[in-house]
Amino acid sequence: MYEKLIAELSSPGRNAFSLTAWNGEETSVGQYIPENLLRTEPAKLPEVSKIDIVRHFTRLSQKNFSIDTNFYPLGSCTMKYNPKINEETARLAGFAHTHPLQPASSVQGLLKLLYCMERSLSALCGMDAFTLQPAAGAHGELTGMMLIKAYHTKKGDGVSRTQVIVPDSSHGTNPSSAHLAGYEIITIPSDDRGMVDLDALKANLSSRTAAFMMTNPNTLGVFEKNILEVADMVHKAGALLYYDGANLNPLLGICRPGDMGFDVVHVNLHKTFSTPHGGGGPGSGPVGVKSILEPFLPIPRITKNNDTFLLNGYCPDSIGKVSAFYGNIGIIIRAYAYIIINGINGLTRVSELAVLNANYLMSRLAGSFNVPYKEGVMHEFVISLKKEAQTYGVRAMDVAKWLIDNDIHPPTVYFPLIVEEALMIEPTETETIDTLDEFIEHMMAVKDTMRGDPSLFHELPRTTEICRPDEVQAARNPILTWHDRN
Ligand SMILES: Cc1ncc(COP(=O)(O)O)c(C=O)c1O
Repeated sequence: MYEKLIAELSSPGRNAFSLTAWNGEETSVGQYIPENLLRTEPAKLPEVSKIDIVRHFTRLSQKNFSIDTNFYPLGSCTMKYNPKINEETARLAGFAHTHPLQPASSVQGLLKLLYCMERSLSALCGMDAFTLQPAAGAHGELTGMMLIKAYHTKKGDGVSRTQVIVPDSSHGTNPSSAHLAGYEIITIPSDDRGMVDLDALKANLSSRTAAFMMTNPNTLGVFEKNILEVADMVHKAGALLYYDGANLNPLLGICRPGDMGFDVVHVNLHKTFSTPHGGGGPGSGPVGVKSILEPFLPIPRITKNNDTFLLNGYCPDSIGKVSAFYGNIGIIIRAYAYIIINGINGLTRVSELAVLNANYLMSRLAGSFNVPYKEGVMHEFVISLKKEAQTYGVRAMDVAKWLIDNDIHPPTVYFPLIVEEALMIEPTETETIDTLDEFIEHMMAVKDTMRGDPSLFHELPRTTEICRPDEVQAARNPILTWHDRN
């Protein structure tokens, strides 16, 4: 049913104000706001009754697709269940009511938590130090690139090392972040197993290379078995190895980027560590480094002197601040709750189950769909619907819409770019085998429907507020404002 905008529900004179009496002193806004900034006319706000507001927003909230209501196998995004205790912990008054300008002496508990979080992430990733400041994965990547630049500059070859190499399977934010940091991007192909092509890497590494950016397992879900050789090649060229650890889900307690030879890593707390994904924030993308890069980390650093935690702003080689204050604290608290509640054994179990669930789904679906890269699949895998598109005219987007009509969030579509008609599936460890089996049944029904009446797909979805928008128009020319028709 069409949900009217709140402005359309408005009727003059209605309001949602229910205080019966006010005994306090009247203050005028004009007391605080300079006269030239005061409105000349009252703001045109919707006039709506309280129950209408409550119903409107409750209905809107129910239109949201959420992990709390349905299966959400969105590859690369790790839509695992976020335990509610994370929320309760972040809302404890001692955390929630803290002001970022309070002196360090009055926030010792919070600083201790941040300090312990940095140490926990260092231990899990095999790195020497972490900063919690970056507010998203891509922000972590940019911070990492700035650290790499500062390192080369300090060594004297910052001017000559102008290139960053990325595999063609890399997440789009990787080349964008390196470009934003001023680097030229060199893209190299993957081999026929979906792994880094070592010959291509060798051919492109040179004294101009600042870093090689990769993720392992990569975006095909495939573990790069040659990682030690890759690290050796990169280091021999005098470059650094950057790890896009957006998704650590298959690795926790099992292996560590630091041990694989990575010098810098960012992790997305909003994927692996069960915190909410926000559209562009509030996320958190902490960055970990080996000791050679530690002097360049953003300030202030959280340090410990006996039992006292300090904010150290004196780090002469630091790249400076990358965020207001210390990062998205609420998200970090949620992630820390998740880490300490699970402990290392629980986190290892998380990874084992994430890999098991993905491999279970893959092996059941591989009989009916093409999985082009199967070797070494970890927590996610990619189906190619190229043959279905050619035979039945049913594309990845059509299947995505079919799943929406069946109350399943679609997998990631058309990524990674090197797989045609890609459906990238990440079930996560928090799903039961019953949910996975239901998903398999739906995918089998998709196949049957394609064979029966493929034309059905082109009008889907039928159950959503807006059925089949023009995707290109909606992305390029979104109309996001409400125009008062009166
Ligand atoms: C592999 C990978 N790298 C980087 C990112 C960027 O993270 P964020 O969206 O927090 O900026 C993502 C997010 O989708 C990702 O999946």
